[in-house]
Amino acid sequence: MAESEKSSALSALSTESRTFPPPAELAAQANATEDWYARADADREGFWAEQADRLLWTKKWDTVLEWEAPFAKWFVGGELNVAYNCVDRHVDDGNGDRVAIHWEGEPGDSRAITYADLQREVCKTANALAAMGVGKGDRVAIQLPMIPEAVFSMLACARLGAMHSVVFGGFSPGALKARIEDAEAKVLITSDGQFRRGKPAPMKENTDQAVEGTTIEKVLVVKRTETDVPWTDGRDVWWHDAVDSASDQHTAQSFDAEHPLFILYTSGTTGKPKGILHTSGGYLTQAAYTHHVTFDHKPGESVYWCTADIGWVTGHTYIVYGPLANGATQVIYEGTPNTPHEGRHWEIVDKYGVTIYYTAPTLIRTFMKWGEDIPAKYDLSSLRVLGTVGEPINPEAWMWFRTRIGRERCPIVDTWWQTETGATMIAPLPGVTHAKPGSAMRPLPGISAAVVDDSGTRVGNGEGGYLVIDKPWPSMLRGIWGDTERYQETYWSRFAEQGFYFAGDGAKYDDDGAIWLLGRVDDVMNVSGHRISTTEVESALVSHSTVVEAAVVGAADETTGQGIVAFVILRAGSTDEAKGAEAIKALRDHVSSEIGPIAKPRQIMVVEELPKTRSGKIMRRLLRDVAENREVGDVSTLADTSVMDLITSGMQDSKEE
Ligand code: PRX
Repeated sequence: MAESEKSSALSALSTESRTFPPPAELAAQANATEDWYARADADREGFWAEQADRLLWTKKWDTVLEWEAPFAKWFVGGELNVAYNCVDRHVDDGNGDRVAIHWEGEPGDSRAITYADLQREVCKTANALAAMGVGKGDRVAIQLPMIPEAVFSMLACARLGAMHSVVFGGFSPGALKARIEDAEAKVLITSDGQFRRGKPAPMKENTDQAVEGTTIEKVLVVKRTETDVPWTDGRDVWWHDAVDSASDQHTAQSFDAEHPLFILYTSGTTGKPKGILHTSGGYLTQAAYTHHVTFDHKPGESVYWCTADIGWVTGHTYIVYGPLANGATQVIYEGTPNTPHEGRHWEIVDKYGVTIYYTAPTLIRTFMKWGEDIPAKYDLSSLRVLGTVGEPINPEAWMWFRTRIGRERCPIVDTWWQTETGATMIAPLPGVTHAKPGSAMRPLPGISAAVVDDSGTRVGNGEGGYLVIDKPWPSMLRGIWGDTERYQETYWSRFAEQGFYFAGDGAKYDDDGAIWLLGRVDDVMNVSGHRISTTEVESALVSHSTVVEAAVVGAADETTGQGIVAFVILRAGSTDEAKGAEAIKALRDHVSSEIGPIAKPRQIMVVEELPKTRSGKIMRRLLRDVAENREVGDVSTLADTSVMDLITSGMQDSKEE
């Protein structure tokens, strides 16, 4: 990226100065207190050992950390079973009757699943998977809607020491296939269909396409929508046949602390998604610890709801592993927030008495658009702590969340982290922090991060730079599946000399030293809190027969944070029809079917040329100027300076609604 491009990303300095102290009542009985910061700094490994004691280890570790940058081993020599920690342990402790999951289906059906129920379901699923040949180290792909079976499946894999690779339900067959192939998965767990905005949409029909010609031996199918499905005898198995008939007794075996737990694919700066690898002991320790302190979770009292999908890391860490390790009672909702009406979330908060509500800024902005009179109709007095994740939250949305949802009573924790970090890294503590609207504030106790300049030197207060993590942390990724070189190159080469992990985000310190996240500094877009690489969308566009070249940028979007804007050059001799509204729509749909609806460009414009440097690099900064309707910036490094005039003059014609 050009220097000027970096600095423009980093110069968006905020002037927010309001602060909100924690409510006195919450502070008085908070799970974490101010002294934790200094305690963790004084003895980082001792602090993490203390957090690891939240879990039940069948064999205690010998060494807290072995660090040979960039390769970490945490709790070396320790053994545990992750699923046992999330399920059986609570039953053994006498909490089998506690509801683990209040599941709310989109059509209005619901299920209350206690820890004892969860234990039976996970054991049955583990037995069924074992009967299909799944064992230690195998990979299981999962593409499911937000139904309890998704949780059972993940925990059953963990119980068996098999790795799950969960693929978001909105991803295309091609995207699922690429992930199955990369991980060489043996079994796929899916469903007949999924409810989307009140209607059943097919699922297995799509997953069948993904499975063709791969390593998948068995497909386990949950019946959810009663949709007719294509069936391959010998390969396909109904969940209600295989799982329901399996024994509910299963003895969990212990695995090494560093035994792989899951792979989760995320977008990077190239077209090929990265399989982020997480392991067991360190991951679960930080998942449990952060869930405990950032949400001030009180087992047996709190009713927790994280609105993420299980297909993203937030669903892994803050629906499955963190909350269940802590014996939480949580709500899982299957559907969209406006089905059957725009008050659905508040109705659910009211129904279950939700005390902790964790969501994404993009959804808060959507609620703002729908109007404050909608949440006003519901009793939200049960809420105690609110959280956000996935993208920077603008102060306006933060204030709205505080006023209209938290009714001025609830602290907001803006949690910064990534698929790679495994769990929250930078966030306020709800009983300690005097929070500022829009700031993630400071690294959690035990975590060390800094904002640095190009040379790796910490910048001063009031200055911006790159966010790095300068000390290893327990839930850090252990690598990219099958690609050690890419792991080193992507995260550890930018500040190799200093040994810093480079997060890819820009950030700044305000005058008080609080951290403000400023978005990605690489070619990764953030659309509704989801990471999509520009290259991925460009590859999808050029795979269409009419397109020869494409450049994609993320442009500021009021609701989704960023929206995808594409500039395409069509094949020589293309007709006017190929440039028309119909053809543009077909192109947008093509991207949607190649990657998934989340990657569908908001806007595509046909251009004759793309702005390139003399060395042939596309200058996205200029395209972003066009996409955001700004005056085009410095064009002096362009090979052909007339290109931008042509592009801006054509912009109005190709606007897509
Ligand atoms: O750019 C940051 C943004 O989301 C990226 C990580 O995306 P992903 O791996 O999909 O995980 C999302 C859920 C943890 C980061 O590099 N991001 C995440 N949380 C925040 C954020 N940006 C600003 N503030 C946040 N709280």
